[in-house]
Amino acid sequence: MTIHDTRGMDTAADAILRIEDVTKTYGPVRALRGVSLEIRRGTIHGLLGENGAGKSTLVGIISGQNTPSSGRILMDGRPLDHVDVKAMEEAGVFLVTQEPMIIDNMTAAENLMLGIWPTQGGFVDWRKLRADAARMLAGSGIDGAALAGRLDAVARRKLNILRAMFSGGRVIILDEPTAALTVADRRVLFDFMRRLKAEGVTFIFISHYNDEILEICDAVSVLRDGNLAGGSENVAALSSEQLTELVLGRGLELFQRSRRDHAGKTPAVRLRAVVGTNLSIDALDIAPGEILGFTGLPGAGAKELARAIFGLHPAGGTIWLGGREGPLPANPRAAFDAGIAYLSDDRRKDGAVGQMSIGDNIALSSLPSRSRAGFIDRKAEASVVARYFGAMGVKAPSPDYAVDTLSGGNQQKVCLGRVLATNPRLLIVDEPTRGIDVGVKQDVLRIIDELSDTGVSVIIVSTDTDELVRAADRVCVFDHGSIKETLTGEDISVERLRASVQA
Ligand SMILES: Nc1ncnc2c1ncn2[C@@H]1O[C@H](COP(=O)(O)OP(=O)(O)OP(=O)(O)O)[C@@H](O)[C@H]1O
Ligand SMILES: [Mg+2]
Repeated sequence: MTIHDTRGMDTAADAILRIEDVTKTYGPVRALRGVSLEIRRGTIHGLLGENGAGKSTLVGIISGQNTPSSGRILMDGRPLDHVDVKAMEEAGVFLVTQEPMIIDNMTAAENLMLGIWPTQGGFVDWRKLRADAARMLAGSGIDGAALAGRLDAVARRKLNILRAMFSGGRVIILDEPTAALTVADRRVLFDFMRRLKAEGVTFIFISHYNDEILEICDAVSVLRDGNLAGGSENVAALSSEQLTELVLGRGLELFQRSRRDHAGKTPAVRLRAVVGTNLSIDALDIAPGEILGFTGLPGAGAKELARAIFGLHPAGGTIWLGGREGPLPANPRAAFDAGIAYLSDDRRKDGAVGQMSIGDNIALSSLPSRSRAGFIDRKAEASVVARYFGAMGVKAPSPDYAVDTLSGGNQQKVCLGRVLATNPRLLIVDEPTRGIDVGVKQDVLRIIDELSDTGVSVIIVSTDTDELVRAADRVCVFDHGSIKETLTGEDISVERLRASVQA
């Protein structure tokens, strides 16, 4: 493990991008503090760091979305003076963001060609382009003629990545691209990246998953509190533990729940004859204090069942919960009243309210339970906010800050805090640690574990096998709308889960 040491390297010839002493401040927040680093041509360079470390801010600057407060960027040894998105895309630098930017009422193929800027005097062979686009899409399993608005989250993400590659990107920046991808999709993406790398394309790759960094990256740089904290030019020589230590500046004890066997207990939740679009479940019981994992390929039913229980996916059937039996909730309000809380994996759509403060967001959903006879208990509210702001380690000067000034992972923490604060009987969390750094991930799993100790039943919908292994007592693997296999005890392993999901 070495701190970036470029002395003695023939850097001028090697570096496609050089970041020199870049600083970025947002009022009192110093997001980047004099960061200097080099990205070598034709490499895959990992950018690592905890939530709020400054990764997205830095790549925002490199791609022309943000202006630095000071410092400069050199490409091919030449300093770039004015950088905006168009100028950087023309120079071949593309950013694929955490939230895909896709135009819904255009086809997939048209979206792919969005990045092609016809140059003045030059001309674009649209026919060839269209044929190329169709060929590229065919290889990715996306129907080029389909309206982009109809594509699912995974296809949209793939489309965005393909767009940058298709547009002749020389430097392609991927800000957490793999979060919504299956293992198979990830393999396709990585193969694609390797192929382009061999042709000389350079990548900057942001991820919170060690296994991905170790698999795909040649070099890494680590940001901590806006500073360049270290890095390595030889990722192949690192272990996962060393990588974690590089990111956190300390070792980390990985959380592992002492798995419980709930067989024979009187269930807290009983589901019967749940039938809906792509969903058909005869019976499923959940014990009090049980953590139940739902997993499967997209569309296999894991997410659909979770959403049906919260009144978000149309389905018939009965639920027995808290001593009462009735039809599945018709909407989230009814589900909430029955004591069910739900964290969506789509934090843009049903997530945090951006302009509101962190504190108000955390208090939002739990408001009804703490308002007695029409007025709100402010003291209780303040203590709930303080508790979850602290427990989740939200990185902001105070809970009064607006959520949309937070980094992606910190917004996710606020959403999770809000759901946990509602005191549910049944907690449903969809990809609870997606986008959350490796240190906080352990805290989140620990908080869910502690909640289950109080008797709350928990459903974790996840494609993160490591997360299921660490947190779940039992895992249901979904296929074609039904549960095809249920794993318990020692059978809950990464290998076993992967095999079952892909089978
Ligand atoms: N528009 C803004 N206004 C105020 N502060 C901001 C703004 N954008 C980012 N920040 C702050 O800058 C810091 C760095 O945020 P950034 O999004 O770069 O983190 P990150 O490393 O990408 O984290 P994550 O892993 O959570 O995505 C954070 O403290 C964040 O709150
Ligand atoms: Mg980010």
